Amino acid sequence: MNILILGGDGYLGWPTAMYFSNRGYDVTVVDNYFRRNACTELDVGMLYPVPTLVERAKIWHELTGKEIKVVIGDLSDPEVMRSLFSGTVEYSWALDRKFLGIPETVIHYAEQPSAPYSLINYKYANITLTNNLLVTNNLMFALRDFSRDTHVIHIGTMGEYGTPNIDIPEGWIQIQRNGRKDTFLFPRQAGSLYHTTKIMDTDLMWFAVRMWDLRITDLMQGPVYGMETKDSMIDDRLRTIFNYDEVFGTIINRFTVQAIVDYPLTVYGKGGQTRGYLNLNDTLQCAHMAEKTPAQKGELRIFNQIMETFSANQLAEKVQRVGKAQGYDVKIDHIENPRKEAEEHYYNPTYQGLIDIGVEPHYLTDEVLAGMFQVAETYKSNIRKDVIFKGITW
Ligand SMILES: NC(=O)c1ccc[n+]([C@@H]2O[C@H](COP(=O)([O-])OP(=O)(O)OC[C@H]3O[C@@H](n4cnc5c(N)ncnc54)[C@H](O)[C@@H]3O)[C@@H](O)[C@H]2O)c1
Repeated sequence: MNILILGGDGYLGWPTAMYFSNRGYDVTVVDNYFRRNACTELDVGMLYPVPTLVERAKIWHELTGKEIKVVIGDLSDPEVMRSLFSGTVEYSWALDRKFLGIPETVIHYAEQPSAPYSLINYKYANITLTNNLLVTNNLMFALRDFSRDTHVIHIGTMGEYGTPNIDIPEGWIQIQRNGRKDTFLFPRQAGSLYHTTKIMDTDLMWFAVRMWDLRITDLMQGPVYGMETKDSMIDDRLRTIFNYDEVFGTIINRFTVQAIVDYPLTVYGKGGQTRGYLNLNDTLQCAHMAEKTPAQKGELRIFNQIMETFSANQLAEKVQRVGKAQGYDVKIDHIENPRKEAEEHYYNPTYQGLIDIGVEPHYLTDEVLAGMFQVAETYKSNIRKDVIFKGITW
């Protein structure tokens, strides 16, 4: 099977590339280093240095004998996107530069993924809007023109739903009105401009499915935690990009690092904000199971990709407990909320679909958190306290 990973240098993209490569798939990754360049521009620290995508593909090949083909290019440029399907692609690194053929599956991660980034100011808002929507739209048109049978797995976000005062289904809702009924996308109401672009992605994909009979799975993912996967354990240089700052660090990753450097855990406001979370290893499993059971032609299939829910207070208490067992005096601070969001709310999403197609969840146990502490401790001297909280307000 021939699989194309858009955003293959990213936090989720690189582990996904190794995961599929190890399972015998022909993998091509595409990235333009948007994330790394943004980290440099905003001066937010990464926990450890990460070799370039080309270097990582070479290390992977040396250690496993397997090839991950690399394309460095901007997917918001339609010609770059189309070259991946038309056969005119230029590989930046590959053992064999011959076109692999049209991919059976595309995993689409290539977006600006940070809510605070999208609200720094109008400039970053525009970058987020144009980048994310153009990449998705370019993909839809490339599929329309070259390959309507290719299955797309797009990573959406649970943040698209917001925090409605009713149960959240997996993507769709049936509405009855004046004696008639129909099925619609569940109403979306995002809490940031980044999340708004993910709603717009869903609309673009739903349009393309209706018009051109594409097959798309949209995975509404919650914040991911972790830095290690089975495939990266063979060499530290294969570990994925890991941020612990306010812009790109997700909450559990951030809290773990804060605990190590005696920086009180920054709970925003009352801390009742409840979200669904999942382990990095489960992102890979979800992508794999979705790939094995593709959406039908003309189907936009939506799953909620979370394994358990926690409030910010519950996460802080967990990190505090595990940190204390490791000898750290972890404090919790309720700071003024820089975001505009409900700090106490109803939250009851369904998340059964991925389990039904074979995903076996990992949970945030004390052992799993302790493992994250151990890796982060190794790089303690790299941790910069000044990047942890920058105070980007909504
Ligand atoms: N990490 C999470 O907790 C999380 C949660 C929910 C949803 N998601 C979604 O999953 C996807 C991947 O997230 P991530 O955490 O790996 O983010 P990431 O920033 O680490 O990965 C995205 C990758 O895409 C690349 N990219 C962005 N724009 C591009 C372009 N125009 N051309 C080529 N490459 C481009 C970036 O350089 C980066 O390497 C995103 O779409 C994000 O919205 C992530």
